[in-house]
Amino acid sequence: MTKIIAFESSADETSVAIVEDGHIVLSNAVATQINSHQRFGGIVPEVASRHHIEWITRVLDDALATANVSLSPAELDAVAVTYGPGLVGSLLVGLMGAKTFALAHNLPIVPVNHLAGHIAAANFNQPIRYPALALMVSGGHTELVLMQNENEFAVLGETRDDAAGESFDKVGRLLKLPYPAGKTIDDMAHKGQPTIKFPTAMAHEDNYDFSFSGLKSAVINYVHHAEQKGETIDQYDLATSFQNAVVDALVGRTKRALQDYPVKSFILAGGVAANSQLRETLEALLASFPETTYIPVPRQYTGDNAAMIGAAGYWNYKQGIFAGLDLNTDPGLDFELI
Ligand code: KG4
Ligand code: ZN
Repeated sequence: MTKIIAFESSADETSVAIVEDGHIVLSNAVATQINSHQRFGGIVPEVASRHHIEWITRVLDDALATANVSLSPAELDAVAVTYGPGLVGSLLVGLMGAKTFALAHNLPIVPVNHLAGHIAAANFNQPIRYPALALMVSGGHTELVLMQNENEFAVLGETRDDAAGESFDKVGRLLKLPYPAGKTIDDMAHKGQPTIKFPTAMAHEDNYDFSFSGLKSAVINYVHHAEQKGETIDQYDLATSFQNAVVDALVGRTKRALQDYPVKSFILAGGVAANSQLRETLEALLASFPETTYIPVPRQYTGDNAAMIGAAGYWNYKQGIFAGLDLNTDPGLDFELI
């Protein structure tokens, strides 16, 4: 049995987790800073890193206590840590925490790509079989990723502009909803009708790319137009119509990729993977791909958390991918395009 302690601090969640064999979560302590950023309508990097500093040791204590792990190094095998992508000031805090812990307890450091973490969280649902295709949809990324095995990530398509979660947050801001708006729009969409025709969020060419800026502009124009005419808009109908356009694009591109690349598992990962319409529509799509198992990340692990870093850390640990105390952040880290 391999027990990995994992640190995650790439954006506005400070999290430490202990994960056994990459799929059993012994603890997953998460401190969120959403309240501090809400009044600014987005993450303020300077505020975020200060919060991480305040919280990291408390979150660490919580993770150790919940998992019933004492500070005896013999109980742990490695320290996994997110080194990118993310905000540099935020990443640095988790990285320093992880290095200090590793040094104090004589443990190896396993560097983890945050995006691989989101995908590896599928293991908390069921084991991934390869080749696998992942739709990674978060606040910063929207990608279709092909995996031949645990350590090979190739991007088939990605967004040309905004990420899917970012488009939810921008529309939420327009509607004066609290940040981040994904969950609120998801709930509102259940109560409305798809009365407004918005463009789907796809790049037009014959590829696997997405584009959300045209959709965002169409929503902005719709709202401004109504304001100019003194009309009140039905926010619920707008939420339904907007969400339909996002889900159509994500599912449309996924369908094409599944047709072109027969895979054993299809993974839905990232913060936007919590979206109920997206989960259900993909489940229906996967019914027509009987050779492919649908593995959505369990809802509680779709947002940023350290358990997912422990899961991806285990992949790297098995491959012998370790880093020294000179490990640096890589804020722009991404997978390779093919
Ligand atoms: O993966 P994540 O927690 O952080 C990043 O790595 O970016 O993703 C956060 C994003 C936010 O944009 C948030 O609005 C969106 O995920 N989100 C949702 C839902 N829950 C969170 N978007 C749509 N529907 C949801 N239910
Ligand atoms: Zn994330």
